[in-house]
Amino acid sequence: MARGTGQGGARRRMMVLGFTGGALGGHLGGWRHRDSFPTTTMQLQCMVEMARIAERGQLDMMFLADGNGVRQMDKPALFAANSPSDRPAVFEPVTLFAALAQHTSKIGLVATATTTYEEPFSIARKFASLDHLSGGRAGWNLVTTQYVEDAKNFGRDEHMGRVERYERAHESLDVVRALWDSWATDAFPQDKATGQYLDPARVRLTQHRGTHFAVKGPLNVARTPQGQPVVFMAGQSEAGKELAAYGGEGLFGTASSKAQAQKEYADIKGRMPKYGRPPDALKILPALSVFVGRTRAEADALYEELQSLIAPSLAVSYLSKLVGFDLTDAPLDGPMPASPGESVGGTAIGRSVLEMAAREGLSVRGTYERVLPSMGGNMVKGDPVEIADMMEDWYTGKACDGFMLSMPVQPRSLRDFVELVVPELQRRGLRPPDYRGTTLRENMGLPIPADPFLH
Ligand SMILES: Cc1cc2nc3c(=O)[nH]c(=O)nc-3n(C[C@H](O)[C@H](O)[C@H](O)COP(=O)(O)O)c2cc1C
Repeated sequence: MARGTGQGGARRRMMVLGFTGGALGGHLGGWRHRDSFPTTTMQLQCMVEMARIAERGQLDMMFLADGNGVRQMDKPALFAANSPSDRPAVFEPVTLFAALAQHTSKIGLVATATTTYEEPFSIARKFASLDHLSGGRAGWNLVTTQYVEDAKNFGRDEHMGRVERYERAHESLDVVRALWDSWATDAFPQDKATGQYLDPARVRLTQHRGTHFAVKGPLNVARTPQGQPVVFMAGQSEAGKELAAYGGEGLFGTASSKAQAQKEYADIKGRMPKYGRPPDALKILPALSVFVGRTRAEADALYEELQSLIAPSLAVSYLSKLVGFDLTDAPLDGPMPASPGESVGGTAIGRSVLEMAAREGLSVRGTYERVLPSMGGNMVKGDPVEIADMMEDWYTGKACDGFMLSMPVQPRSLRDFVELVVPELQRRGLRPPDYRGTTLRENMGLPIPADPFLH
């Protein structure tokens, strides 16, 4: 049970809600809409504004996806148009969150870092620091890196294969957690009278020697407010699911239908008992793009307007990027081609898109029209009651524990969600009336890991 909830006794489970914090918005045409930020590149102010709006709506977390390279330079139209997930010029997310932590007080700050190209010591140190700077609001989205080209910025010609990436990820996660457990909570008495700054009996070495890493430890950061930052993942491959069951506390998904989400939910939760973990120790949060209006007509109008901001050639280029193979020569109104083979990089979104196209017999045009608004995940469009109905249906139907929201136009869509949908979710008892604690763990309903020196 989380500590310090101030509510006493068992707490009701609540839908977990986060949002993807890209200032360009989640729709490819979002940044061109008149209600979007006028400029976003390296603008701290945009990030502060979104975090504060989300905090007014008691959202549990702001999430920043990330990579270590500039993409799509081989697709000039897409490169010029800047699709929301490409990020040619963005702040390094942990650095950015260190700044945002000083402008917010409740919202969780979940940053992405890759185990493929970063060392566990650096990851442990950065996120432990962020947890201190934010008073217990840090989360790490562990990725193995989706984009093969990132390898070329780290002294490699090729991206590591999936098996090796996930072996490294598993080992890295264990080492990071061991490093976070370096110091006892009370290791630094800093007693002026006796001259004792720290207690040498309250620290331990990590002494790890494995296949991929050798780390002596200890970490040079004191035990953090959450004990350990919350670990998120987003891999949907077999290896990705297994790692999430083993050690993830949040999992982002891409399911595009309730049935698919229910299947994945049961699959991943079903893998947890063999690791001695209760199902509720991992919160599954499918991505959800929300097009909300005060009325259904207003939501439809926003949706149509955004779709009209994207030329078909750009849309095909974007779809090619998502599925991982080139669709330029495929007839627009012909059937969506199947994948020519398994790709080395990300599979999650691409596979979900191809499954949807096959399931629904969509053309190339039909596929991108479906994919553009949702980024390949799920989308919902309507008035606040319709949006809340869909969210409640998935949540109570064991399709998810909450959602990772994608907002098509920023900051308009986030503000609309907070003002229109959050009160409806609260009225239904799906969301708390206020933050339930000061740490991300408390707000997500996750336990604070025990201090190993006390047990
Ligand atoms: C909602 C969501 C967000 C993701 N964010 C990132 C990211 O920021 N950086 C990244 O490299 N991969 C990201 N991914 C991809 C996965 O984390 C994973 O690294 C990739 O899909 C390869 O692993 P897999 O083969 O297990 O899917 C994301 C996936 C989803 C569904």
